[in-house]
Amino acid sequence: MTVREIKQKVYAVGTNHWDRRLFDELIPLPDGTSYNSYLIIGSEKIALIDAVDPVKQNELLENINKIDVKRIDYVISNHAEQDHSGGIPKVLEVYPMAKVVTNPKCKEFLIEHLLIPEEKFLVVNDNDTISLGNRTLQFIIAPWVHWPETMLTYLKEEKILFPCDLFGSHLATSDLYSTDEAKVYESAKRYYAEIMMPFRKNIQKHITRLNEFKIDVIAPSHGPVHNRPEFILNAYKDWISDNAKNEIVFPYVSMHGSVEKMAEYFIDAVMKRNITIKPFNLTKTDIGELAMALVDAATVVIGTPTVLTGPHPAAVYAAYLCNALRPKTKFISIIGSYGWGGKMPEKLKELTSNLSAELIPPVIARGHPKAGDFQALDTLADTILEKHKGIGIIK
Ligand code: FEO
Repeated sequence: MTVREIKQKVYAVGTNHWDRRLFDELIPLPDGTSYNSYLIIGSEKIALIDAVDPVKQNELLENINKIDVKRIDYVISNHAEQDHSGGIPKVLEVYPMAKVVTNPKCKEFLIEHLLIPEEKFLVVNDNDTISLGNRTLQFIIAPWVHWPETMLTYLKEEKILFPCDLFGSHLATSDLYSTDEAKVYESAKRYYAEIMMPFRKNIQKHITRLNEFKIDVIAPSHGPVHNRPEFILNAYKDWISDNAKNEIVFPYVSMHGSVEKMAEYFIDAVMKRNITIKPFNLTKTDIGELAMALVDAATVVIGTPTVLTGPHPAAVYAAYLCNALRPKTKFISIIGSYGWGGKMPEKLKELTSNLSAELIPPVIARGHPKAGDFQALDTLADTILEKHKGIGIIK
């Protein structure tokens, strides 16, 4: 990737990974990703903010070479996950005088995960600063964005925030800045949903604290740089708020068509009531799309047949995901079918125990749905409508 200057002597030296299609062997990357790294040249010292994934470390070093620096004094590690820290050992090999600047928890993680020797570290705590001569870096300890050791770095004189994962997006693009805001919004929301949503409450506190800082530029370690910080800050304020929208997320799976028929009827029933519904047939679903839909929705309804006394494994996966991502869901229900018995609804309830959502009585049909089951689906749609009115999201 070409090197670009964000402000005078502040360079983006990271790399795009255009064709990466899976992260953590779990998260689909329809637009690839980038591992951003920034080189800041002060009058006395030179700092590198975050490294890159090891698969791109040689490209990082080539980029640093293009700027023709003779040394790096500090490697700032905001986050120990390998897509930002994996290249640090190689950087230390090439620049052996460099110190890794990070907080105590991140130091512990870097020693454990990357075997970086103890003597390589310079430990900082919340609000500490280090001087580069004419420039100052301030460290903001911000646990759980995304691991417990995460911190943000603020370049005071230029008012640039380097938040690593926070405010990032899995988006490989030739744009340095968030020029195509509609596209970046979608990518950042997907990223928030997959990575940050479980830590929504922590992020609320961290974003409030950022009010203390004047920020002109937000330079995350994935995706484009935000030169209009209010764009991404306002998006985050909406996503992390407790305000849900008049939407139902409906992940479902059907084996022999009973749940499919119930799903079709239910989708029509809620559409007639002017509630937005986002159905996800789980045999065809990109889990990133499902996660994104969970960001705003007031209600989640899971549809599943009964398999070996419990939910279909695809529904178990969806329920597990909803539970792990801890969205702001206010109401939850279940649509399903069974042949001869089982504990499918009870098992789904257990699987979603993290959600502090009110359970609306499930609709479970025996075999093919019949008139009474369709009537129950209408009642479910009516109940959801009333519940949404009750929390003020429908006028
Ligand atoms: Fe981009 Fe949590 O690493």
